[in-house]
Amino acid sequence: MSDLLKNINKDKIPQHIAVVMDGNGRWAKKNGYLRAIGHKSGVKAVREVVQACDDLGVKYLTLYTFSTENWNRPKLEVNTLMELMVDSLTKELSGFMKNNVRILTIGDTDDLPNRCKKKFADAVSKTKTNTGLNLIFALSYSSRKEILTAVKSITNSVLNNEIKTEDINSELMDKHLYTAAIPDPDLLIRTSGEQRISNFLLWQLAYSELHFTSVLWPDFKKDDLFAAVIDYQQRERRFGKTSEQIKK
Ligand code: IPE
Ligand code: IPE
Ligand code: MG
Repeated sequence: MSDLLKNINKDKIPQHIAVVMDGNGRWAKKNGYLRAIGHKSGVKAVREVVQACDDLGVKYLTLYTFSTENWNRPKLEVNTLMELMVDSLTKELSGFMKNNVRILTIGDTDDLPNRCKKKFADAVSKTKTNTGLNLIFALSYSSRKEILTAVKSITNSVLNNEIKTEDINSELMDKHLYTAAIPDPDLLIRTSGEQRISNFLLWQLAYSELHFTSVLWPDFKKDDLFAAVIDYQQRERRFGKTSEQIKK
């Protein structure tokens, strides 16, 4: 067993971990490869975090896989990423089934190429009764767009007299987001040394603990996840209260 794993308090495991998997391109450059190899190597890191979350009993893991802004990358890179997602999901699906992993997606999956959209829809459907880790892929995801879509849908409910303006509250907003059935992340991890949110889960991260590491995504191992959880466990989550109130 990893030394880091031994130091994790099993009673304080984050229920939901979200990850901005960043640094594939820089990893490739550093090692003299094309960016595509960086992305390919990133798949191994996905396997590592999924297993680490499984080891810990984390219930939800959300992976920022492709943002709406990523559509603006060179066409070749976008195509490579789409193909890689199809290939990887094909290869990993039996392992997910064996480990009782349930696949979910958030984002505008309708904008994905057909093959990719179908692959994810198929994985969601095949794993839907699994009761282990909920593995959520954020695909063609934009948090601002998610919030705007929710606002439009709530506005329509008001206009149709289904609800009153006074009924609009945080809980209602939660119900209109892609993440309706998913609790807010307790911990957000971003790799590669960047310290920004990049349009990811803006509403849901309101009280998440943030962990930034300089490790580039393809180098991310189980122990890096365990280190992030140990960091998280040392934080005092006060939610606006005083430290004394929390310790009572
Ligand atoms: C993350 O790695 C993967 C995606 C955003 C799809 P990057 O491709 O952003 O890697 P860097 O930031 O160029 O190093
Ligand atoms: C964020 O990474 C999106 C994903 C990890 C999928 P980027 O590399 O696209 O982020 P920015 O645009 O540099 O902030
Ligand atoms: Mg990047």
